Amino acid sequence: MADDWQNAMDHAVALARRAGEVVREALQHDRKVMTKSCSVDLVTQTDQKVETLIIQSVKEKFPTHRFIGEESVAAGEVCVLTDSPTWIIDPIDGTTNFVHAFPFVAVSIGFSVNKQMQFGVVYSCLEDKMYTARRGNGAFCNGEPLQVSQQEDVKKSMIATEFGSSRDPEVVDKIFSSLRNVLCIPVHGVRGAGTAAVNMCLVASGCVEAYYEMGIHVWDVAAGSLIVSEAGGVLMDVDGGELDLMSRRIVAANSRTVAERLVIEIDAFSPPRDDAPPLKP
Ligand code: IPD
Repeated sequence: MADDWQNAMDHAVALARRAGEVVREALQHDRKVMTKSCSVDLVTQTDQKVETLIIQSVKEKFPTHRFIGEESVAAGEVCVLTDSPTWIIDPIDGTTNFVHAFPFVAVSIGFSVNKQMQFGVVYSCLEDKMYTARRGNGAFCNGEPLQVSQQEDVKKSMIATEFGSSRDPEVVDKIFSSLRNVLCIPVHGVRGAGTAAVNMCLVASGCVEAYYEMGIHVWDVAAGSLIVSEAGGVLMDVDGGELDLMSRRIVAANSRTVAERLVIEIDAFSPPRDDAPPLKP
């Protein structure tokens, strides 16, 4: 079976590269912007085109595999992770960046079997950085091995996070209170690339010691989660418990020490789970 997953991973890398070409080409033209859950939750025709391109190609090659894709879920598909081989796809992670031509935009493809990530591919298309990880085989960027930072003193750390797309004042208050607490530890700095997938690759690369966010989705972090752990990092929930990819909450860090220190400062909240049944009208 191992070789099957390697074939799937090779296909994912080729597809991510092809998707990146579509994204770069689309940036040369006007981008028609639509909205999803609220006025700042954006989607473009390129998100939809890239997701279709990836899913159609995978269906031809691996007809029995299942999918969780950001735009398919937005169109009403169920978002449930089973034991079956499942491709978890964010065609454009950093859609708001893409809309504004802010230069961090990623294609994120994770692959899970028995609810365990087997490989993760994140292609940061404008930087031309292909991040890959295969369970048990390490994490790489453009073929070079990745290693998390060895800095375990949170006061000498750089932390990544995001503001997310909720503008509910209660949620925004929680995000700012967490940010205030983390800044005042104090840490060296707080940054955000505007894409969860790239933030996680920055943890894996040792550029930031940790990334945390509440409000992300499984497709934003599935691939990145394996890239972080294969680079030597740790993953946990924002309450210090085990990471649950469907919970929409994550801490990804270089070490348990840094992750557990951050958890103390995070003013946690629980967005509706990705696998929650749809609300009845
Ligand atoms: C978003 C990005 C952003 C994060 C949001 C995500 P999208 O994904 O990862 O950095 O703050 O929580 O939803 O919508 O661009 O695929």
